[in-house]
Amino acid sequence: MSKLRWGILGAARVNERLLPAIVEASNAELVAIASRRPGAAAETLQKYAPKASDVRTYDDLDALLNDAEVQAIYLPMSNHEHGEWALKAIAAGKHVLIEKPMAITLAEIEAIEAAAQKHNVTVMEGFMYRFHPQHARVQELVNSGLIGEVFYVRTAYSFMMRPARMYRLAQDTDAGGGAMWDIGPYAVHSLRLWFDSEPISVIGMAKYAETGADITTSALLDFGNGKRGHFDISFECSRRSEYEITGNKGSIKCHTVWQLPGDVPVISWSTEDGRRGEEQLLPANHFRLEIEHFSDCVLNGKAPLLSLADAKANCRTIAAVLKSAASGQLVRL
Ligand SMILES: NC(=O)c1ccc[n+]([C@@H]2O[C@H](COP(=O)([O-])OP(=O)(O)OC[C@H]3O[C@@H](n4cnc5c(N)ncnc54)[C@H](OP(=O)(O)O)[C@@H]3O)[C@@H](O)[C@H]2O)c1
Repeated sequence: MSKLRWGILGAARVNERLLPAIVEASNAELVAIASRRPGAAAETLQKYAPKASDVRTYDDLDALLNDAEVQAIYLPMSNHEHGEWALKAIAAGKHVLIEKPMAITLAEIEAIEAAAQKHNVTVMEGFMYRFHPQHARVQELVNSGLIGEVFYVRTAYSFMMRPARMYRLAQDTDAGGGAMWDIGPYAVHSLRLWFDSEPISVIGMAKYAETGADITTSALLDFGNGKRGHFDISFECSRRSEYEITGNKGSIKCHTVWQLPGDVPVISWSTEDGRRGEEQLLPANHFRLEIEHFSDCVLNGKAPLLSLADAKANCRTIAAVLKSAASGQLVRL
């Protein structure tokens, strides 16, 4: 099987998950990693893939972009850097898997889209959760009519921010800091997924740090015809990463959306006529599945599961929630 040759742009913490995923993926090969901090790329490689061989490490991001062997780039830089570096990677002719959020403005995603078309490369936003088979199972249950027509979806994503990670609150929301640009993309994405449509208006509420970064945000999203999505995200609540879909005949709950490779996925459901069920699925590594999907798309000329239209719609909704929270007003989309 041919393998896509990957480079990683940035020695970010999330490489703990994605670097081994690239190494383990059946159709991928890690050939390089770069950081702006001297020694950080080599240290990251040693930490997360000590047995990997023939991987070049650069103390210069442009050196990786100029590495002709690199075909695809995984871009896990800070949120406000995604737009700029994705454009540089695309201009260098590389396919790019960009961590969520793809960018923090719609204009940047539009520029990424135009550049990807011009250079004929594949670009996708890195929502690894979409590649976990548990959501395909939820989709099957919804499609079976078990819970009827979907009217309400609720998602909750939170964890206690450790002091070492407080730098995520160092920048205000306009600069990509805070919970809404960090865990908010999952919340918005999963609501849009289960309604399979876009909200027409949003109302948001947030608690801010002194820097202007949001620490806790909740929002109500109107999908029309009485269909509502609600989410709450927080860096100061105990850990939750779940969604619940309620229709006119019952509800389905996915208990842990951010699965770690060994976690056992659980889906439970109940219906109006008193039936209940709980399913345990096999553990799956959605980080590796995401890398294998993207590699397959590039190698075999397929369209990625997550489109640029999807990335734009997610960004538009996040921006609307932030605008609503800041102004205290309902925002129409
Ligand atoms: N899919 C997921 O499960 C998941 C999980 C977490 C985060 N994310 C996303 O992944 C991206 C990266 O998040 P992260 O939390 O991993 O970021 P991070 O560790 O803060 O790293 C972001 C960038 O900051 C630089 N950096 C890292 N550590 C540093 C340090 N100690 N001092 C100075 N600069 C440092 C790195 O660039 P240089 O190496 O060039 O210096 C890196 O590319 C974000 O967009 C986030 O939303 C995704």
